[in-house]
Amino acid sequence: MRGILITLEGIDGSGKTTVASILTHKLPEARSQRHFVFTAEPTIGEAGKLLRSHLADKSHDTSEEISRARRIQELSLFMADHADHLAKTVIHELDKGSVVISDRYADSTTAYQGVTLRGIIPEPLDWIRDIYRPWNVVPDRTLFFSVEPMGAIRRLRARKKMEKFERLEFMKEVDSNFRKITALEPERFVTIDAQKEADRVVEDALDAILEIID
Ligand code: TYD
Repeated sequence: MRGILITLEGIDGSGKTTVASILTHKLPEARSQRHFVFTAEPTIGEAGKLLRSHLADKSHDTSEEISRARRIQELSLFMADHADHLAKTVIHELDKGSVVISDRYADSTTAYQGVTLRGIIPEPLDWIRDIYRPWNVVPDRTLFFSVEPMGAIRRLRARKKMEKFERLEFMKEVDSNFRKITALEPERFVTIDAQKEADRVVEDALDAILEIID
């Protein structure tokens, strides 16, 4: 049986991680004959650890040049982590016939670093897609959890979990990049209205996933 790759994407505060944790119970119940693997990016592997320590580094960039170098470093770390994820988990599991569900994947890099690299790289969104295209494993389906950036920020504030990438202007730009990517590959994406009540969001996500699993 061929494996299936499904990815969950959205801005911070879109609720996809909560949905992912509920899916870890619901999906094996609904398709007991399949083996499910739940994974995420950034990963918990070596490359992911390096990346998290880079993201947690609060030292201020002292010049424009240093800031540019650090943004390129950040893209390289996300890219290394994605390659590691493919090599250590995703490809093996798909070969074994598993259903792999990843909370964030390469589209997060296109959407987020497509913003951070503006002013450094011309047309960064297209550039990142071009870099990934020759070696990426393209998901069979991607669920985009759609929310208003302001609402997402409110949710994050309520949880007191504001991190590096969670300012409103930045989130609006990331959101707009996700919508551009969705429009570029409409056959791969299913947009989930994540502003509905939680049970409905889980139901919609479950339906979108089960549709492509026998
Ligand atoms: P996130 O999945 O939200 O991690 P956590 O569960 O620890 O909150 O990812 C951390 C941040 O990194 C988040 O703001 C999104 C951002 N990110 C990128 O900028 N590029 C990427 O390629 C990925 C995977 C995440």
